[in-house]
Amino acid sequence: MDSEIESILDALSVAVFIVDADQTITYRNSASVSLFGTGLRNKKLSHFVPNKRCIRAVDDVLDGADRQSVDVRLQLVVPTSFRMTAVSLQKNATRDGASAVVSFEDVSHILEAEQMRTDFVANVSHELRSPLTALYGFIETLQGPARSDQQASDRFLQLMEREAARMARLIDDLLSLSKLQSEERYAPTEKVTINPILERIVASLEPILMKEQATVATDFGADLPDVFGNVDELTQVFANLIENAAKYSRPDAVIRVASRIDDKEPEMVRITVTDQGDGIAPKHIARLTERFYRIDKGRSRDKGGTGLGLAIVKHILMRHRGRLQIDSEQGTGSTFSVVLPCAR
Ligand SMILES: Nc1ncnc2c1ncn2[C@@H]1O[C@H](COP(=O)(O)OP(=O)(O)O)[C@@H](O)[C@H]1O
Ligand SMILES: [Mg+2]
Repeated sequence: MDSEIESILDALSVAVFIVDADQTITYRNSASVSLFGTGLRNKKLSHFVPNKRCIRAVDDVLDGADRQSVDVRLQLVVPTSFRMTAVSLQKNATRDGASAVVSFEDVSHILEAEQMRTDFVANVSHELRSPLTALYGFIETLQGPARSDQQASDRFLQLMEREAARMARLIDDLLSLSKLQSEERYAPTEKVTINPILERIVASLEPILMKEQATVATDFGADLPDVFGNVDELTQVFANLIENAAKYSRPDAVIRVASRIDDKEPEMVRITVTDQGDGIAPKHIARLTERFYRIDKGRSRDKGGTGLGLAIVKHILMRHRGRLQIDSEQGTGSTFSVVLPCAR
């Protein structure tokens, strides 16, 4: 093959093979090696694509058919979804002299994104429907059995207010998320001083802390450098972490909120929120920042949660070019660390 064409094929991220009339591989580009591994030259295509539809489509092309595409999922190191496309290399050749280009485009990320979108829409609908269903139930009761029962009416109205507030919170959080996702590429450029923000949040959370019988102990580093950030967004981050610690650790909890320069990365500021709750099992930790992921749905609902808090935290920190780190030991408690780049 022309070395220029070979270079062009090696520049592609799509795996490209050329096969002869009996589907033996006579050429493969670089991407095919990183996707399928070495040692395939002179092997048959069916050797690593054990899929009848693919093999038949390539056969059809070798017999003179037009371009064929087949979606296939192959068990490589991890299961990977491909769009296979086969095109004949010669027009009007006999089968004996035929050869074809067979390409494999990795479409896993597209399918995953599509699956995530579908799941998200299903989740949102479910989460919005449940307070709505509750509201309908109360309305029916108020129109019927409880019509002239003042005490019951008062109680139901209170419950209705709670459900309506839950819907409002959910919608606010969804809007926050969607706004953050559209702004993620633009890092904030204003300098902010972290410690006063933390102080303000702790003071403003007093009612929730009292309700959960939790107290906050602070340990703010002196001379902490500023970070590039958005005050409202960082407030949302720390408020959610401290609130979570109050709600999901245990009653009478002492929550430690600390700030310091990171030990290992001196160009980063580390803010930690530590509780002494039951801790979080590793299988949950990896999923906590997923939208609507909650370890105990009932508990989160009782505490007025939406399951979106940590997803919002993650997106805010991504925009701030920082990160969230969750460490937890069962029986000892959890530490949620926010790591942000210094503005110096
Ligand atoms: N400090 C914590 N200790 C134990 N579990 C926690 C803690 N923080 C968060 N979680 C778990 O993570 C879940 C998701 O948190 P979050 O995204 O803020 O949603 P929400 O607070 O609305 O439920 C919570 O429902 C809870 O199960
Ligand atoms: Mg929360």
